[in-house]
Amino acid sequence: MKGLVIGGLGIFHVFLAQFAIGGGVLMTYFEWLSGKGKLPSARRFTSGYFKVLVLVSFVVGALTGVGMWFTSIQTSPRTIGLMVDTFHWVWATEWTFFSLEVIAGYCFYRYGDRLDGRSRLFLLGLYTTAAWFSLFWINGILSWQLTPGAWLESGNLWAGFFNPTFWPSLFFRTFAAMAIAALVAALVISVSPFERDEQKELLHRAAHLLAPMALMPLLGAWYLFAMPKDSRSWVLGGSPAMSMFFGLGAGASLLVGLYALFGLLLRRLYINSATASLLIVLGFVATAGGEFVREGARKPFTVRETLYSNAMTPAEILTLREQGSVTHDPYPLRDAADYPNDQVLLGAKVYRFQCSVCHTVGGVNGLVHLAGTWTEEQTRLNVAKLQHTKPFMPPFAGTPEELEALVRFIEWEAASRPKDFEVTRDPATLAQIKRWLDEAGTAPGYAAASEKKR
Ligand code: HEC
Repeated sequence: MKGLVIGGLGIFHVFLAQFAIGGGVLMTYFEWLSGKGKLPSARRFTSGYFKVLVLVSFVVGALTGVGMWFTSIQTSPRTIGLMVDTFHWVWATEWTFFSLEVIAGYCFYRYGDRLDGRSRLFLLGLYTTAAWFSLFWINGILSWQLTPGAWLESGNLWAGFFNPTFWPSLFFRTFAAMAIAALVAALVISVSPFERDEQKELLHRAAHLLAPMALMPLLGAWYLFAMPKDSRSWVLGGSPAMSMFFGLGAGASLLVGLYALFGLLLRRLYINSATASLLIVLGFVATAGGEFVREGARKPFTVRETLYSNAMTPAEILTLREQGSVTHDPYPLRDAADYPNDQVLLGAKVYRFQCSVCHTVGGVNGLVHLAGTWTEEQTRLNVAKLQHTKPFMPPFAGTPEELEALVRFIEWEAASRPKDFEVTRDPATLAQIKRWLDEAGTAPGYAAASEKKR
């Protein structure tokens, strides 16, 4: 559930950040055209367009970027810790490029109108290069989360950075950035006070940035191919939600691509502000679909095979099964007085530690919706074998007593939190849970699935 907050913010941020990069490419291209005398209205457009770009992408982009750090540190401090531990120099390098981007962009914003053509082109080139390199560095870290590749064995920074999905993802994002910028440009052009002929010429030039979209299906396929097999199978049908978002993203991109190819590039259609807005919305949907799939495909990990989404390492699960997952949890529950007995209270703590990153109790992906109608026996079994119940969940990582407490907590919530609630402590039940936990093992669910096929 907390993931949704990050997800929503993240999609917005990615859209803006990619727009800032693509916007740089577009303006550099236009400035160059203007220097060659090929597009007389280009400079007027760039000066107007850039103000929008600066306002929107710098201010909101920077704000949402900081917002991302805030929310993700709240939700998953251990993941952020691992990322910073592993890639601190890469982050630092990324930051210098971002600073360069801001400085170049600001200089252009402030002094661009007074400079000659060469200096303008230089500043825009610098801005674009710096912006693209900040993508380059971040892309290595984000793609490492899904496919850490040879880093898993060697711990080598560059093996993790140039991982199997690095290149397809980098090219894909670059082309997406150019496409988004072209669409926003189309909107700005259509509402700007240019002559009709100038508008048409500007539009046609802006549409050139949509041409690389033709390669997107190929890059998408490359990306899918480089993904772990289980992740890929969820995207391609295994998980309805993920497949739906994938379809939405791919479909929206396809629509934009077809319109760009036939409407703008081949037939040179004029595009009005309504159509441009609609295309931008499609671009946003495509971004949202893509980001949702990328984030979702990583489950049950935040860093593949290294850190589970609920902040445990695979190696820790064995210990936690012996010692209990919340035995050393120092944080009290906020509503501790509401629980009818210590067992339910323990269950609530186990829920908070192991399940709450992905589930709510009664809301989105709520446990009461998912398991509230099951018999108690069924819930015990399915939670004991959590990674087999759905392979995008980590293995259960606590004692049989904790599991029983969690099941009672779900039952209590499903019964609308009655004042009195029986404490269960049947040794035979606990022994059965222990057997199920042992049968389930501590390997992730997808590993067991590929084991069976062999
Ligand atoms: C990494 C994220 C993640 C974690 C952690 C997680 N789950 Fe899930 N769980 C999911 C997703 C995603 C689904 C699929 C929901 C759906 O099918 O609509 C799911 C489904 C379920 C279901 C329904 C399964 C079915 O077959 O219908 C239950 C029950 C469940 N989870 C319980 C738990 C419990 C209990 C915990 C904590 C011990 C937990 N989950 C931890 C992501 C997670």
